[in-house]
Amino acid sequence: MPALLELDQVTKRFGGVVAIDEVSLEVEQGQAVGLIGPNGAGKTTLFNCITGLARPDKGEIHFGRGSRDALVGLAPDEITQCGIARTFQNIRLFASMTVLENVLVGTYVRTHTGILSAMLAAPDARREEHWAHERAMGLLDTLGLSSLANERAGSLPFGHQRRLEIARALASEPALLMLDEPAAGLNTVEKKELLDFLSRLKGRGLTLLLIEHDMQVVMPISDRIAVLDYGRKIAEGSPAEIQRNAQVIEAYLGKPPAGNPPA
Ligand SMILES: Nc1ncnc2c1ncn2[C@@H]1O[C@H](COP(=O)(O)OP(=O)(O)O)[C@@H](O)[C@H]1O
Ligand SMILES: [Mg+2]
Repeated sequence: MPALLELDQVTKRFGGVVAIDEVSLEVEQGQAVGLIGPNGAGKTTLFNCITGLARPDKGEIHFGRGSRDALVGLAPDEITQCGIARTFQNIRLFASMTVLENVLVGTYVRTHTGILSAMLAAPDARREEHWAHERAMGLLDTLGLSSLANERAGSLPFGHQRRLEIARALASEPALLMLDEPAAGLNTVEKKELLDFLSRLKGRGLTLLLIEHDMQVVMPISDRIAVLDYGRKIAEGSPAEIQRNAQVIEAYLGKPPAGNPPA
């Protein structure tokens, strides 16, 4: 069976910078794949190419089981409808909307009548609105945010905002969830909670692709890890293989994290 997500020699340039250089990658249904590499390696750009926020200069991206969609050229909302959802390195929430409203926005891709008829409140739309509300509350509950449903999203502490972003992404019922540095800025307890939560999602069959610098998050969750450096995929393998790969240690793992000089 073909992979759920397949990138074939994807290249993306910004002026003279080759942000992504002929990267091929496969993500199998049900797997968690980690994407690591130094800052500026092209990780977020790769996410943007997959989700339609950047258009590759070259290469192809296919997604789906059975009938597969060619993603290059599709708009971001069309890609969401194909079954891909993501979170952002810099959290993107509607700060002045409530926690619940933020998740409801995520459910609209799966309701057919859409926002306009929901406002006109036809009976069908009412039913869907009810369904969307139930579903959104269920997701908030799963993420331990239901007691905050009516708070303004912008007023939540950082760790809760990260969780809310995941709840909103899940609201579109994706087959593939892509997370861009989900552990960044979280404390040790929150990182542990994140890891537990991602493991549960994976256990329920969700496919994950995650960019993450924290090795204690990315190593245990990932079935496979791909390493980017200067836009090129320099290694791919099991977490154990990656941890002992000399080229990876040279390019990335051997370097002390920024702002954390060697003792
Ligand atoms: N919209 C953009 N315009 C110009 N250059 C960009 C843009 N987005 C990313 N880049 C450049 O592409 C390279 C890869 O960036 P990025 O994908 O953000 O890396 P990472 O997420 O691995 O830190 C960097 O050199 C960055 O400056
Ligand atoms: Mg990035």
